[in-house]
Amino acid sequence: MDERISKIKKLISISNQIVAFTGAGFSAESGISTFRGAGGLWSKYNPSIYADINYFIKDPSYYWNFFRDERYPVIKKAKPNDGHYALVELEKLGKIYRVITQNIDGLHQMAGSSEVIELHGNTRKIFCMNCDKTYSMDRVYNLLKKELPPRCSCGGILKPGTVLFGEPLPQVALDMANIAARNCDMFIVLGSSLVVYPAAALPEIAKNNRAKLIIVNIDPTPLDNIADIVINESVSKVLSELI
Ligand code: APR
Repeated sequence: MDERISKIKKLISISNQIVAFTGAGFSAESGISTFRGAGGLWSKYNPSIYADINYFIKDPSYYWNFFRDERYPVIKKAKPNDGHYALVELEKLGKIYRVITQNIDGLHQMAGSSEVIELHGNTRKIFCMNCDKTYSMDRVYNLLKKELPPRCSCGGILKPGTVLFGEPLPQVALDMANIAARNCDMFIVLGSSLVVYPAAALPEIAKNNRAKLIIVNIDPTPLDNIADIVINESVSKVLSELI
């Protein structure tokens, strides 16, 4: 691994427009389960029932049970890990100019990253499908003790601030991510299976615009064949060697 680490270090030293692209594997070391790979959430919960907008509209209780029992307790106590702080370091050194994340836990911002693009929303913002009023995830957790699904004071059903399957990504975030992928000189994937589109198209867009593509992921990904460097190791191990 060290020869690839020194190659990445050299690439970082000559880059100043680096995009870090993070997935659930990045937050795994903060105790938040991944979706795929060993012990992934989607092996226990069928995403077409628990995380799909069409099913949510038919019966929101599945998602809200999943949120109450599986997601809220873990995200509530999660803290940024060494990997999050390593990206803040690289940003301070003027190396990282965008963090594009598929994660919905807000840990990059909590660690101090300033240019974070949240492709799949953020679970800390929950809003009414009827009047758009915003609720905190703590407030909704308390509502869930009394009623399922949780409702707004106007009676409308509350919807998570995260993008469910079957929903479009926030257009501004997607546009900013595309621009960042086209203008970066290095695109480093950290802890993503790269199987969910349109997010997974970004590494290829970067590569097609002459950026160096690095993939750090425990399991192989479908884009390994176009990457300049692939390291199948934990993100924190690799980032701590890099910083
Ligand atoms: N270090 C590096 N990689 C890791 C680590 C780690 N400590 N732990 C797990 N991984 C890898 C796994 O090998 C796996 O390939 O992280 C990857 C996580 O993949 P997914 O669980 O599919 O997460 P992600 O790629 O972010 O999923 C994309 O799918 O379900 C939707 O909206 C959800 O944003 C999510 C999207």
